[in-house]
Amino acid sequence: MLVFPKIKSVTEAIKLLGSSVRVGFVPTMGALHKGHLSLIERARKENDFVVASIFVNPTQFDKEADLTKYPRGLEADLAMLRSTGCDMVFTPSTEEMYAQNIQSESFDFDGLEQLMEGKHRTGHFDGVGTIVKRLFEVVKPNCAYFGEKDFQQLQIVKKLVEKNPWPIRIVGCPIFRETDGLAMSSRNLRLTKTQRAAVPLIYKTLLEVSKQFQTEEVLAIKERVTTIFDKHPVLRLDYFDIAEETSLRPVTNKDPKLTCRAFIAVFAGEIRLIDNMRL
Ligand code: PAF
Repeated sequence: MLVFPKIKSVTEAIKLLGSSVRVGFVPTMGALHKGHLSLIERARKENDFVVASIFVNPTQFDKEADLTKYPRGLEADLAMLRSTGCDMVFTPSTEEMYAQNIQSESFDFDGLEQLMEGKHRTGHFDGVGTIVKRLFEVVKPNCAYFGEKDFQQLQIVKKLVEKNPWPIRIVGCPIFRETDGLAMSSRNLRLTKTQRAAVPLIYKTLLEVSKQFQTEEVLAIKERVTTIFDKHPVLRLDYFDIAEETSLRPVTNKDPKLTCRAFIAVFAGEIRLIDNMRL
């Protein structure tokens, strides 16, 4: 497995492969788990050459503490990637990606960036757009793989590709869960024992919502979710929304023609976890 911290080495190696080799790309921020590995496996099946990147992107964090405390473990990550059959890993420094200017570009994702995560994490999707664009320009993949846990990010990246002349297919991959239903996330590593014991409530709530959605109105469901977290001793609800899957526009009245998804963000102390489920 090739490990390159420099843009130049990656571009040269990709060029050497030639245009007939299909390149699959999995961008990550490291602290890899089985969810990431499932993306690599999918990329392995559908491409000739698999590239992953590991880069904790500063511009997508709205809170300094979240950035500094984001779990990091390069050696363990590389070992996992090696065992999954990844061919190349791009591990740039912040300077390599941003030079001296650690700032986001400003993007118009047709309003997708203003909803949910965009509303609650100022500048987050400008940061994601900036880094994904730069990574795509370096790796020039045929296909790129993103987890559905960050469902809004997936739609944003699809929009980014739609608005640029890159022939890249964006593939969304199912959420990977722990046995108690907790969506796998690098941030789970930061949970205390008490928080870890409490957070399966997020998935349990989504399961209940998906049942209630068959018979109940959206407003009643939203109120019920608010009540569940209202007096919780460990968890705090940041938002819960039911939205149409592609436009991500909030749904107020059920319409059988719409494919809806429930979205939730919850704080356990200062750790923020998100999850979603198709209804
Ligand atoms: O989903 C992530 O890990 C990040 O947002 C991404 C896509 C690697 C961009 O930094």
